[in-house]
Amino acid sequence: MRALTWHGTHDVRVDTVDDPEIVNPRDAIIRITSTAICGSDLHLYDGVIPAMKPGDILGHEFMGEVVETGAQSTLQKGQRVVVPFPIACGGCFHCRITQFSCCENSNPVEKQDMSETLYGFPMAGIFGYSHMTGGYSGGQAEYVRVPFSDVGPIVVPDHLDDEQVLFLSDILPTGWMAAENAQIQPDDTVAVWGCGPVGLFAVQSAIAMGAAKVIAIDHYPHRLELARQLGAETINFRTSDVREALMEMSGGIGVDAVIDAVGMESHGFAIDNMFDVAKQKIGIGADRASALKQAILAVRPGGRVSVPGVYGGMTDKFPLGALMEKGLELRTGQTHVQRYMKDLLAMIEEGKLDTTFLISHRLPLEQAPEGYRNFKEQQDSWTKVVLKPGMESAAPARGSA
Ligand SMILES: NC(=O)c1ccc[n+]([C@@H]2O[C@H](COP(=O)([O-])OP(=O)(O)OC[C@H]3O[C@@H](n4cnc5c(N)ncnc54)[C@H](O)[C@@H]3O)[C@@H](O)[C@H]2O)c1
Ligand SMILES: [Zn+2]
Ligand SMILES: [Zn+2]
Repeated sequence: MRALTWHGTHDVRVDTVDDPEIVNPRDAIIRITSTAICGSDLHLYDGVIPAMKPGDILGHEFMGEVVETGAQSTLQKGQRVVVPFPIACGGCFHCRITQFSCCENSNPVEKQDMSETLYGFPMAGIFGYSHMTGGYSGGQAEYVRVPFSDVGPIVVPDHLDDEQVLFLSDILPTGWMAAENAQIQPDDTVAVWGCGPVGLFAVQSAIAMGAAKVIAIDHYPHRLELARQLGAETINFRTSDVREALMEMSGGIGVDAVIDAVGMESHGFAIDNMFDVAKQKIGIGADRASALKQAILAVRPGGRVSVPGVYGGMTDKFPLGALMEKGLELRTGQTHVQRYMKDLLAMIEEGKLDTTFLISHRLPLEQAPEGYRNFKEQQDSWTKVVLKPGMESAAPARGSA
């Protein structure tokens, strides 16, 4: 089959590789109909996540048709399913308390050393996301093997098209959990750093949860415009002092909750960020956390800090004093996607959530390398790329130039 494979920093290729096979009785094989490139994939593309090997198949946002099932799979051939990005067994302690992205059984023992050393506990398995998370082949391919297929995939009705439901695999629940972790109250002012797909879905979720005011921060005009269309006020961090603007917009008190939807590759020209860029380049596991640092300083005392942005290593000059002295609450984590899929699917069906507005480009799988390059280098107009293995040639972009 054809699949998008990682070969090094900024080097991804579509190669012919072996077809996946059923390995365990709970497996299913899915023929991919749609798959997306995530901001998290950019961390792999940029080479800042360790434990990638040349030839690894990327992709953790995907959906398709069930074509083969193991003896214990509860899926049936022909069903259309969306697959959550964390791989979870459904039976361990963490799965039972719906902390699916902390599953204890989905990362094979021989892959656990690195995360156990770095984080104190082994990570769960994630599709297409390095050998630290199990070395599973991802879904930016024609076919993928889905372990624990009786737990993760959700069957979607035929009257919803792929683009309405694809993002249930990751970014829609991620934006939702980010807003939930911000513990939004009706009178709240909430600030969201980053207007990528995760930030935009966090804005949409915060509004759906009843926040009085949502303020979105980025430096890309088109992405800021998308946030305004959702009902947010915006701050361009290139042209405004973010903390000053937030103080003004929150009546001098500071915002009640902050959401870091930027993660470990924060842009910015403050001196500490320039140091972080240099440290990250030499591969010592240093995260660029300037958006998170700014968020912690900008939130009001007693406020809440929600961090959907991915971090992998260590960061310097973390404002621990501000976190403690202001009495802040911090919640974070890889999304427990399986916990949210059913409810969010119902909201899509009822027309309460739209997921399609941020798709800017649709490309055949063969053009995936172009998709990665542009999603990285033309972030403003390439807001979200959907790859379609069966597609002949690129259709014109919708929703942006
Ligand atoms: N927790 C999870 O389970 C989960 C799931 C999906 C994605 N993520 C993470 O969420 C983050 C965002 O993902 P995405 O797909 O939206 O990525 P993206 O790269 O498309 O968007 C990031 C946005 O942040 C903006 N940004 C950069 N520095 C900033 C700063 N200092 N202040 C304000 N904005 C800034 C960029 O301009 C960009 O628009 C990534 O770290 C990704 O890995 C986490
Ligand atoms: Zn993702
Ligand atoms: Zn489990």
